[in-house]
Amino acid sequence: MANSEYEYVKREFEFDRHLPASNWIVVRIDGCHFHRFSKIHAFEKPNDESALKLMNACATSMLEKFPDIVFAYGVSDEYSFVFREETEFYQRRESKILSLCVSYFTSVYVMKWKDFFPNKELREPPYFDGRVVCYPNMKTILDYLAWRQVDCHINNHYNTCFWMLVMSGKTEKEAQQTLKGTFSKDKNELLSQQFQINYDNEPAMFRKGSSVYREKVETKLKTDNYGNPIKRTRMAITVSNVDIIGPDFWERHQYILREEEKYRYEYVKKFDNIHRLPRCNWAVVRISACQYDQFSLIHSFDKPNDETALRLMNASASLMMERFPDIIFAYGFNNEYSFVFQENTELYQRHERLILSSCSSCFTSFYMMKWKEIFPYKELVQPPQFDAEVLCYPKPKIVCDYLSWRQAECHNRNQYNTCFWMLVKSGIGENEAHEILKGTLSKDKNELLFQQFQMNYNNVPAMFRKGSCTYRQKVGKIAEVEDKGVAKEQWDVAVAHMDMGPEFWRKHPYIFNSK
Ligand code: GTP
Ligand code: MG
Repeated sequence: MANSEYEYVKREFEFDRHLPASNWIVVRIDGCHFHRFSKIHAFEKPNDESALKLMNACATSMLEKFPDIVFAYGVSDEYSFVFREETEFYQRRESKILSLCVSYFTSVYVMKWKDFFPNKELREPPYFDGRVVCYPNMKTILDYLAWRQVDCHINNHYNTCFWMLVMSGKTEKEAQQTLKGTFSKDKNELLSQQFQINYDNEPAMFRKGSSVYREKVETKLKTDNYGNPIKRTRMAITVSNVDIIGPDFWERHQYILREEEKYRYEYVKKFDNIHRLPRCNWAVVRISACQYDQFSLIHSFDKPNDETALRLMNASASLMMERFPDIIFAYGFNNEYSFVFQENTELYQRHERLILSSCSSCFTSFYMMKWKEIFPYKELVQPPQFDAEVLCYPKPKIVCDYLSWRQAECHNRNQYNTCFWMLVKSGIGENEAHEILKGTLSKDKNELLFQQFQMNYNNVPAMFRKGSCTYRQKVGKIAEVEDKGVAKEQWDVAVAHMDMGPEFWRKHPYIFNSK
């Protein structure tokens, strides 16, 4: 199919989970509303041999159709299919594998119905739901299968008793009451004493469920010229009703679930867990300094704000914008900085962890390199460390709301800290200062500053109150005309301390339309 201009909607938006490598993949399907389905088709109770054989025939067809299914186990209206550990069936895409399994099973069920119920019309379309579970090692996959067989035993034991009681004249309620709280031993006694039934003699298909797998069989083709039989062994799909809880079966059939040898080392790459940023989303990388209290104490930063330290943060952010052209905007205050990447950035093919780690590392490096220039008389005595996280927003409006939220946070913290340190510097203890400010509103803090310290909060430097916006702006055109007669625009990184309200975005419409 030719690529159209619309094709990107598939390439870039469709996510199909790939199941983890080196795990046994189990698809367990279960008949939907089979309680009703079995009633409508008058299945025998508690077990309808034909219905179970039909299920087994479908499972056999599954193993024929999908060679990577190494084992299947079924009981009642459910069947589990185990794909070999290293299967590359549809590149292990979960939805492909799951939908194909339920769909193929269903169509075989309908197609083979007549073979098992020649005198019964299929009166309603049967259908199945399914789930996929991955088991990473031999113990867990064997435990999974054992769990299903134990379940089979418990249900069948109960149902056998239940229907014997009902057939002997008890109502369903009475039968339920009789069986309430009984143990396995009690049920065996009930069956043998009241109905002369030895549970162990019940058909194995009912007691053990059905296992489907490939088994070596010898076939005698003909005899050779000397009268010796010519035998050939081949793998044939077998249905059996055996115990798969104990080790015996698995010891005799080690080839079914053997762990595959890995000859190629490259298979380890399949474990890479690459998470990519969703398409058409603006990514925000927020960096913040860890243990900043201690760091600012050691370097005796001014309280509540050290202008030089903030300038160092801004200088590092400006360098980030030069280093990563896809950053369209940055906002910082105190010990944090948020970097907004344009929606279609292809940085590291949108590999989230690479973006996050390189930003955090690059910012740290700029901070270190710029330290000497900005703090010429202060030695850097402790290495700073920054953590980072990535956030994704699908609309510019939401990015703006995110930035406004950070700016509100800047205001709240700065106003609080300004009051707190004014109180402390005036001789009040730190605990007492916190007590005084507890529960105060913005208005109260402005009043406190004004009345006690004759300070107008609005005259505090804008960098402290508003934080710092870092963005590109046009500074003119380079006069020389290029080949095509177009003057080249010149851009510079600006740092401003203002409200990021609607007015700001109206004045800088190009920030979100940088294409
Ligand atoms: P969902 O799976 O949730 O859609 O409901 P369900 O009605 O299929 O019930 P569930 O899968 O929990 O149980 C399977 C049901 O199928 C049993 O409760 C029985 O009613 C019915 N069933 C399965 N096998 C037989 C059978 O051999 N004979 C009869 N009479 N009923 C069966
Ligand atoms: Mg069901």
